[in-house]
Amino acid sequence: MSNEISPSVLQNNTQHPAVQIDGVGKSFSGTVALEPVWLKIRQGEFLTLLGPSGCGKTTLLNLIAGFLEADCGELFINRDLVTQVPPHRREIGIVFQNYALFPHMNVAQNVGYGLRTRHVSKAETAERVREALELVKLGDFADRKPNQLSGGQQQRVALARALVIRPKVLLLDEPFSALDRNLRTAMQVELKEIQTRLGLTTVFVTHDQSEALSMSDRIAVMSRGQIRQIGSPTDIYDRPQNQFVSTFVGDANLFSVTLLDRDETFVRLTVGETQLQLETYQDDLPEPGPVTLFARPEQCKLTQAGQAGSIPATVALTVYQGSYAEVHLDCAAADNRVMQRVPASEAPSAGTKVGIALPSRGPAIYKLNGEVE
Ligand SMILES: Nc1ncnc2c1ncn2[C@@H]1O[C@H](COP(=O)(O)OP(=O)(O)OP(=O)(O)O)[C@@H](O)[C@H]1O
Ligand SMILES: [Mg+2]
Repeated sequence: MSNEISPSVLQNNTQHPAVQIDGVGKSFSGTVALEPVWLKIRQGEFLTLLGPSGCGKTTLLNLIAGFLEADCGELFINRDLVTQVPPHRREIGIVFQNYALFPHMNVAQNVGYGLRTRHVSKAETAERVREALELVKLGDFADRKPNQLSGGQQQRVALARALVIRPKVLLLDEPFSALDRNLRTAMQVELKEIQTRLGLTTVFVTHDQSEALSMSDRIAVMSRGQIRQIGSPTDIYDRPQNQFVSTFVGDANLFSVTLLDRDETFVRLTVGETQLQLETYQDDLPEPGPVTLFARPEQCKLTQAGQAGSIPATVALTVYQGSYAEVHLDCAAADNRVMQRVPASEAPSAGTKVGIALPSRGPAIYKLNGEVE
């Protein structure tokens, strides 16, 4: 086969996606881990694969890296077909959750490993290792062994080791999930800075929605081996296209309503006794009849009980959160408990009867019992 990477066509070409995935899928002994996926990752883009455990994130990453062989489809890096190219010829940098450093090598040897296997000269290796360690702020740690480093430092070494080969694409599989919250946030900021400075195409795997929202240019939300929506963080948060995405990313209030009809601008629906007219961003709506209406807590408002147009509810409990309080409400028209945030000093006590006012713009309507997974 002549489809190995040819160095003459490896230059970045902004006209072409950095990674193009055309119908790549994977099953393990008859169980589908990844349905065929189509996806183009742009040059310099930070793309996050976000989804619950077992949804196929690592499988997709390993297919891009070449650690797994696809059952179907084709994979391109820049313009080169790499479906049959082994991992070490794909020029990809990888960082795993568990660091995977060589325990018997010191930091510099760990970072230089990929250069030695590529037969880069000793002098150039030393220089590039020094640069990579500077980049991750570990310039003074070259002689330490991995067991003399903290978890955060080990993950920086793993990052330096991935960057030193000047990869065409950087892949990271839950790289910060073993770190405590503060360190994790610091590492997120650092990775984002390095990635932006180098203009490095990056595919980042996480099941943490806030990590995905804060770092990504685009997020691909996955469940059950499929990409359920792909878009910018604001697309995903403000305009979730299905119930799974609405509940997996951010907090969702879901109401059981009856869709009556729609025209160019408005949808008309009833919630219990209350009739409402709303604007929605959706083009595709389910058929009239029982449906699920979704709104973010910050789009809804708590009102006095019985206020015109509001949905009756009773405060079940309030949870103090410092700068605000979460008010959890029982509501006959809701599929689950409704949650609202209010200033801590204004939190109503349990048992108080209130109303929930829906926004006139912004809610979405999904098929009944759509797809909570
Ligand atoms: N080598 C394998 N053999 C058999 N089944 C596998 C193998 N690797 C993955 N799977 C299955 O494929 C599905 C997707 O797994 P994958 O590791 O891609 O999920 P994930 O989204 O990375 O989950 P997590 O967040 O837990 O890491 C799961 O059902 C998993 O059990
Ligand atoms: Mg995984």
